Amino acid sequence: MHRVEKEIARLINECEYDEVTRLFGMLSGGKRLRAKLILKIADKHEKAPLLGAIVELIHAASLLHDDVIDEASLRRGVPSVNATDGSKTAVMLGDILYSKAFTELVSFDKDIAKIIASSVTALSKGEMLDVKMADEFNYDEDKYLDMLYLKTATLIEAAAEASAILAGKDSVSHALYGRNLGLSFQIIDDILDITADEATLGKPAMNDYVEGKCTLPYIYLYKLLDEDDKQRLVSLHAKALDESDSAWIKQKMNEHKTIEKSFELAQKLSNEAMNAIKDDAQLIGILQTMIKRSY
Ligand code: FPP
Ligand code: MG
Repeated sequence: MHRVEKEIARLINECEYDEVTRLFGMLSGGKRLRAKLILKIADKHEKAPLLGAIVELIHAASLLHDDVIDEASLRRGVPSVNATDGSKTAVMLGDILYSKAFTELVSFDKDIAKIIASSVTALSKGEMLDVKMADEFNYDEDKYLDMLYLKTATLIEAAAEASAILAGKDSVSHALYGRNLGLSFQIIDDILDITADEATLGKPAMNDYVEGKCTLPYIYLYKLLDEDDKQRLVSLHAKALDESDSAWIKQKMNEHKTIEKSFELAQKLSNEAMNAIKDDAQLIGILQTMIKRSY
């Protein structure tokens, strides 16, 4: 991974703007899941670290914009750029990161560049859908999973598919692996929003519902509640929750086992990812680490 970090530092330096270097240095790098995936699939290819750096810059840009859109003040345990330097700066830093990433992408074969570039259109559509869906309580599971695929899984799918092409491996099975890994990863993230505390999450706990996001545990819960409780759940949607509200939601989720039901789907998708690449121990390792984050 130090090769990826070196490439990221080089690309940031090439922006030739101290303010960009300063602001980027303040970001917490996160798990670098996408770059790790690229290195594991195309480890022997000399351009794998650059592809990893490109995808991580795109991901960082998307989070900068997402924090402006969600008005989030914490990202990975540190104050977000919109909180410290304002939304305008966060948007512009995001613009610089993803345009620099796209400039570097043109040095790759056209098919690889197209896979990564079109996934960014998909993730932007996913973000727009996510924001629109937060206007009302959503209890449509398929609609939710379609949005998750666009918002989170497409960039992971594209990273896996593009690096498979780079390494001369089967791109279809690797894309399927990436898609299911991405979906499973986001479902685990949604579970952690409810089960983990602020210190672990690096952002406020139970924040999804406050932001209007009806994740799977809420969708499943709605289906299982009686009419009065359904109304109570919907009345809490997209509002600041006090301690008794969040305790009530958690208690109902416990009663109806909706965290477990969501985890079962994450596990099923993870198994499908595993079946797609069968005997690749490294890629199975990534899945296992991801699934273990949950409880
Ligand atoms: C986090 O979702 C958001 C994303 C994974 C995608 C955001 C995409 C865009 C803003 C499109 C613009 C793209 C570029 C390249 C500039 P979340 O809010 O559910 O998760 P969180 O709790 O981590 O914030
Ligand atoms: Mg967000």
